[in-house]
Amino acid sequence: IPVSKFDLVLFGATGDLARRKIWPGLFHRFVAGQFDSDSRILGVSRSELTNDEFRDRLREAISVNGDDKAKLLDQFLSLVSYTSIDAKGERGWDVLAEAVRTDSVRAFYLSVAPNFFGPIARRLRNYGIATDESRIVVEKPFGHDLASAKALNAELRECFDEHQIYRIDHYLGKETVQNLMALRFANSLFEPLWNASHIEHVQITVSESLSVEGRGEYYDQSGAMRDMVQNHLMQLLCLTAMEPPSKFKPNAVRDEKVKVIEALEPVDARDIARGQYRASKEHASYLDHAGDPKSRTESFIAMKVNVANWRWAKTPFYLRTGKCLRARTSEIAVYFRNPPHMIFPGIDTPMGNILVIRLQPDEGMTLHTTIKDPGPGGMRLTEASLDMTFADSLAQDEIVQDAYERLIMDVIRGDQTLFMRGDEVEAAWAWVDPIINGWKDRNEKPQPYDSGSSGPEDALLLMHRDGRRWRPIGA
Ligand code: BG6
Repeated sequence: IPVSKFDLVLFGATGDLARRKIWPGLFHRFVAGQFDSDSRILGVSRSELTNDEFRDRLREAISVNGDDKAKLLDQFLSLVSYTSIDAKGERGWDVLAEAVRTDSVRAFYLSVAPNFFGPIARRLRNYGIATDESRIVVEKPFGHDLASAKALNAELRECFDEHQIYRIDHYLGKETVQNLMALRFANSLFEPLWNASHIEHVQITVSESLSVEGRGEYYDQSGAMRDMVQNHLMQLLCLTAMEPPSKFKPNAVRDEKVKVIEALEPVDARDIARGQYRASKEHASYLDHAGDPKSRTESFIAMKVNVANWRWAKTPFYLRTGKCLRARTSEIAVYFRNPPHMIFPGIDTPMGNILVIRLQPDEGMTLHTTIKDPGPGGMRLTEASLDMTFADSLAQDEIVQDAYERLIMDVIRGDQTLFMRGDEVEAAWAWVDPIINGWKDRNEKPQPYDSGSSGPEDALLLMHRDGRRWRPIGA
């Protein structure tokens, strides 16, 4: 569906995220015919570049094959211009004020470090570039802790209303993450079972095979807890655990997510395992990448989380994420309780029902079920799975749509459903802060783990202690 005519101003236009995700994503949406042909994209950053020099850079970033695509790229680039700006000074802002038009949706995407959010927001207002209808988009990390997140919210709200602020968590733009809501709330099969009476526990895994090489300096200030759990895993947990919103509207959905975060119990130190990867043949160790041999930042974390409400009492959620693990795989695995009584003689433990929702790669769902082992030999049970790979069910074009491009189009449409609200981000930090402070107070050291493994031994013990097992990574 085409969106209204817009002027999108992208700050940080020459940065890494813009080059890898935002520009190719915008081009992709252009090719899909979603742009009004009178839309404009203005790249902004500090570098002094002419329009042509900037477009040449984009040509490299958005590599295309074939004459048809090259023609489309030329058309796309004709909508793009560039302005050099001093984000914390006064240079360039007049030019930008001239460039934006009064009759189009104005969106300002801040793909820059958080210390620029306030200065840019203020200048957008002071120079009359932003209006009460404009939208401002900010990237993670949204703060480092509760105090800094509150300060960022306050700075943004000086210049923009909450309904104008779009805080990106790109996990919410992933196809399967949204499918989780469709699965739960557009089917009658799952929701009656979606509670502690029927679900024994849930495992949420976001495992990555890459190291932090090249981003060690940022990552070491952050660690897996701040980089992944406070935002991406938290969103997955919220969508899995939340009550059905009354409608699919931004505040109805976000109200329910906030309730989940507020219901999270503080986590006992015993229920957390932290790790740092060792060196391997392919790469150096975490400590080398971090550039600090004494670093106590975790590149892996596993934890048991309790959502203390009526629906989830006594059904723990286990979260796990890390770098340099066996495979790149993200999934939510919902373990259903065993039948209350087994009628088959000599068989105590059936295989169990597990619903696995795969985010990446190979987006889809698998429902593990127990069936009779086919053939003669009496009543023996075995496992069989109902498998659905979304690539089989969807047009290929739809599935390759990247999270960022989907979210940017939502900004233009003015739909905040898949963006984090200010109170939501603060609630997540309020839960995370005491956990991180506890590690600091106790001067806790993460446990080393081998690259290509499933993480440190403590993570396995955390599960075994509860009589459970992690699903193998990359199963
Ligand atoms: C980012 C983190 O937010 O998400 C990275 O900063 C991480 O450390 C990335 O690698 C994972 O995103 P995806 O979409 O590749 O799973």
